[in-house]
Amino acid sequence: MGAAGDGGDVTAAVAEQFQRLYGAAPEGVWAAPGRVNLIGEHTDYNDGFVMPLALPHRAVAAVSRRKDHVLRVHSADIPGGIVQLDAAALVPLSDTGWAAYPAGVVWALREAGHEVAGADIHLASTVPTGAGLSSSAALEVVTALALNDLYELGLNATELAVLAQRAENDFVGVPCGVMDQMASACCAEGHALHLDTRDLTQRQVPFDLAAHGLRLLVVDTRVKHELGDGAYAERRAGCEAGARALGVPALRDIPYGELPAALDRLAAAGESGTVRAYTRHVVTENHRVERVIALLDAGDVRAVGPILTEGHASLRDDLRVSCAELDLVVTSATAAGALGARMTGGGFGGSAIVLVEADTSDATAKSVTEAFAAAGYAAPRIFPAIPSRGAHRG
Ligand code: GLA
Repeated sequence: MGAAGDGGDVTAAVAEQFQRLYGAAPEGVWAAPGRVNLIGEHTDYNDGFVMPLALPHRAVAAVSRRKDHVLRVHSADIPGGIVQLDAAALVPLSDTGWAAYPAGVVWALREAGHEVAGADIHLASTVPTGAGLSSSAALEVVTALALNDLYELGLNATELAVLAQRAENDFVGVPCGVMDQMASACCAEGHALHLDTRDLTQRQVPFDLAAHGLRLLVVDTRVKHELGDGAYAERRAGCEAGARALGVPALRDIPYGELPAALDRLAAAGESGTVRAYTRHVVTENHRVERVIALLDAGDVRAVGPILTEGHASLRDDLRVSCAELDLVVTSATAAGALGARMTGGGFGGSAIVLVEADTSDATAKSVTEAFAAAGYAAPRIFPAIPSRGAHRG
């Protein structure tokens, strides 16, 4: 099984790299994690409920302020050297590549009226990219937290997450919801974050799997997912069409008990089978979050497993955001005795999560790897999801 995140030396190493690049020590070093989502998928842009947990994998940023408006960003992970921009003249949707994530945060802060000038930034990340584990949100949130501290803006974690989402929506141009940025900014070690994406109220739910003899595995299929390619935006538009036809602000407003009637109304209004299926996914998925919360609160963690698998079927059949590799993780893991499994994140590739008895974890991982080999797929990357802390100063 792969290493879970990085060691404790990363902060010092990133500070040293900063000094070599920019000729002086950074004013500070900050970290923000990637995430997996336990349950509540494609609900955040429907004002619904989500339940992510932060991974030990994280983006680390060494940052210093500048007196001028020069914004210099460098990544240890991406070749190409320092990218230099003008913090006072940032243009949304301009083609700045990966630098759009930190630059978008500077833009969003300035748009919101915060006095942010230039900065020197060096970033290094252990969050796998394109794996549905929120590597971009980690870059955004770590930049937002660093600038908030350095420029003494006084914004709280939720406000920083909302600004980071604005950077991704309006500067990078990806129409994501707020889950990933909230997870990176607000998660707590040993907990999952129960978040209402309508009003951003949140509760830290204890999620100590080891105490129950359980483990949550992340299986990165290595099929690169892309949220910017239109399929995500199409799901979002379909859900919004459903809400409009039902006369509600968002699909979150359809209670689970009213789903059959709502589906009838959509059919009577001439809405397509696609819109009806998307609606069914969102309403049942919100209900699944509620069921999982009730089970966790009751200490019945094993019973969460089948709800994860049920959620996967809904994402596969109703929302149609899965792919063959993700489906194979779920079928092979559950056939090997896992308690439950589902894709996590946006889908179309990326990662799945598998809930297993700790003592069968290695055998399950082996079964999934063998199933991938038999199907002719590249070997997946499998590691445990250890609920870790959200963004913090290093
Ligand atoms: C991506 C988006 C999130 C969320 C998930 C699906 O990760 O960035 O906002 O919509 O997909 O739950």
